[in-house]
Amino acid sequence: MIYRLSKLSILKSKLSTPILTSNLNQFGLKLRNFHLSKMESVSEAARGWSNPGVSNIYEKTRPDYNLDSVEFLLEKVGALKPHLGPEPFTIVELGAGTGKFTRAVLKVFEKHAVKNFKIIATEPLREMCEKFKEMVPNVEILQCPASDLEGLTNNSVDCILAATSFHWFYKDQKAIEEIHRVLKPKAMLGLIWYLPDRSVSWIKNIEEMLDPKYEALKFGINTYDEKALIPLRDHGGFVNEGADVTSYTYTQEFSLTDVIDRYKGKSVVAAAQGAEKELMLKAIEQEMKTNPETKNEEKYIFKFLKKLHWFQKI
Ligand SMILES: C[S@@+](CC[C@H](N)C(=O)[O-])C[C@H]1O[C@@H](n2cnc3c(N)ncnc32)[C@H](O)[C@@H]1O
Repeated sequence: MIYRLSKLSILKSKLSTPILTSNLNQFGLKLRNFHLSKMESVSEAARGWSNPGVSNIYEKTRPDYNLDSVEFLLEKVGALKPHLGPEPFTIVELGAGTGKFTRAVLKVFEKHAVKNFKIIATEPLREMCEKFKEMVPNVEILQCPASDLEGLTNNSVDCILAATSFHWFYKDQKAIEEIHRVLKPKAMLGLIWYLPDRSVSWIKNIEEMLDPKYEALKFGINTYDEKALIPLRDHGGFVNEGADVTSYTYTQEFSLTDVIDRYKGKSVVAAAQGAEKELMLKAIEQEMKTNPETKNEEKYIFKFLKKLHWFQKI
């Protein structure tokens, strides 16, 4: 595919995606394999995950998916039934990151002795793709945003999954259209999120401090919010919506350093520069040192809620 773009947008770009200029032709601005136009659909905050070392922090500090929640979702999207073929049951994962969710899916498949399946992971950021390949070497990963699944043909996919990623592209009509385009008729879309539990006062205070940073961006949402489902409900091509928003929780035990690291791996913090980033991290440290629930503690329990939703293509 050939991407067209202005010289100005090349100069303005701070993206780490390789720019292959060798194919510039005599008309000046035709670039092959140029990923910038794809990246325009990736929020500036999410691009913070492409800064050096952030994918490692992400992998270290983000929670795993508890297998019962993943098993529940896989059952809802029909992935655990026998796949009799001849073609493999094809799953496309959107925004696969470092592969935390993919690994959970593989474990559940192993437990259920699921055979004859194929997972195609997708992820727009090269740095995340590289970490993914290190963590999940046996699963193919395509570098692309949800809005550009050009490698996948119409009506070819048995199931699409997005784990803690759909809120990054729910507002992007092209992404919703791509999901609809590649799913087979009656195939399922499964969404899962973990999100910080704001019933814990220090988590609430830190998240509320970060919320406006997201609201200032075009994608405008920190993490799960049921409003992210509206474009799917409004589309007209998805039916049989289902949800489980209360059953699953998850906890991690953190030291102060771990809490700070966990927030260094949060997109808006990872994307911030210099003094702004320092201020955010200082404010988080201050919260931990002054909140009555944490100030006399050395270990903190970070609580997460899990929310699961699923839809069927008509
Ligand atoms: C919170 S991480 C979740 C990663 C992984 N699914 C997990 O559960 O650990 C969100 C991921 O969505 C990706 N993302 C951001 N914008 C996207 C877009 N427009 N299309 C597809 N993925 C996107 C980010 O690069 C990031 O890897």
